[in-house]
Amino acid sequence: MSKVTVVGAGNVGATAANVMAIREVADEVVMIDIKEGVSEGKAMDMMQTANLLDMNTRISGVTNNYEATANSDVVVITSGIPRKPGMTREELIGVNAGIVKQVTESVLKYSPNAVIVCVSNPMDTMTYLIHKVSGLPKNRIIGMGGALDSSRFKYYLSKALGANPNEVEGFVIGGHGDTTMIPMRRFATLRGIPCETLLDKDTMDKVVADTMVGGATLTKLLGTSAWYAPGAATAEVVEAVIHDQDAIIPCSALLDGEYGEKDLCIGVPCVLGKGGIKKIIEIDLNDEEKELFAKSAAAVHKTNEALPC
Ligand code: NAI
Ligand code: 2OP
Repeated sequence: MSKVTVVGAGNVGATAANVMAIREVADEVVMIDIKEGVSEGKAMDMMQTANLLDMNTRISGVTNNYEATANSDVVVITSGIPRKPGMTREELIGVNAGIVKQVTESVLKYSPNAVIVCVSNPMDTMTYLIHKVSGLPKNRIIGMGGALDSSRFKYYLSKALGANPNEVEGFVIGGHGDTTMIPMRRFATLRGIPCETLLDKDTMDKVVADTMVGGATLTKLLGTSAWYAPGAATAEVVEAVIHDQDAIIPCSALLDGEYGEKDLCIGVPCVLGKGGIKKIIEIDLNDEEKELFAKSAAAVHKTNEALPC
């Protein structure tokens, strides 16, 4: 029996739980929130789609009752506040650090062997905070950001190419921030054909720029941050772990010398499977990419300095 807990049954948490249930990523999904009735109501609503969607996952919801999350294989942390139009992810640190610390301690009390997937923003810093407060082996803490940013990159590439998004490959590394993420244009392909040979430089520049502010664009439209793609990207990461897929997904991982960085969580391509991060793939970056990565790392280090620990 596989079990996933999702902490925070808000927009992203509930969407992630729903996608996981529909895709039958785990046998059991538990949502937990501090708002009375919200997790319970959303779980009941989702369970009422079971016969419509031929879904076998059992979904439940609880308020503040961590006992119900016991023995989870994976715990996803989405609790916290999202950004409003005009806000950066970094501005959320004060409130979210307290929430993420408390939640980490509570879930580990009941699921000491779980892999933790951090979604709450500023995600790279929250992932780092979880390392600091939990003392878990580094492979067991995964920050979800690169999966989403890569999907947005592929979306903008497919629009520029006039192609089916499923035919496009691409990934994003670096921090999960409007100015820190690095869409890897050199490696983007349409079924193996380099996109840089199919799109002119100005178009490629625009794809990269649109990807970087992809979250902000949606926040402006929606009045809060997005949830469909963030929820689906979270489910993709959890699925890779639960089903031991050895899937290569960019995630925020604690670096210990990789890419020339230490004591920092930042987006890098990871092999995900049983136990969490099985391996960090080190790409041979060119000089321009190295410079972008170093700048991104410096910005994430700076945000980490605002942590209370
Ligand atoms: P939301 O406001 O819809 O949901 C957050 C939920 O967390 C609420 O239901 C709230 O009651 C709950 N919560 C607050 N404190 C809690 C606690 N101590 N224990 C349990 N639950 C608690 O927000 P949304 O849109 O779901 O976003 C959640 C977080 O995810 C935000 O920090 C947002 O910035 C971040 N995010 C990260 C993305 C990524 O790619 N890493 C993408 C999208 C959002
Ligand atoms: C997003 O990228 C705000 O992190 C959130 O949609």
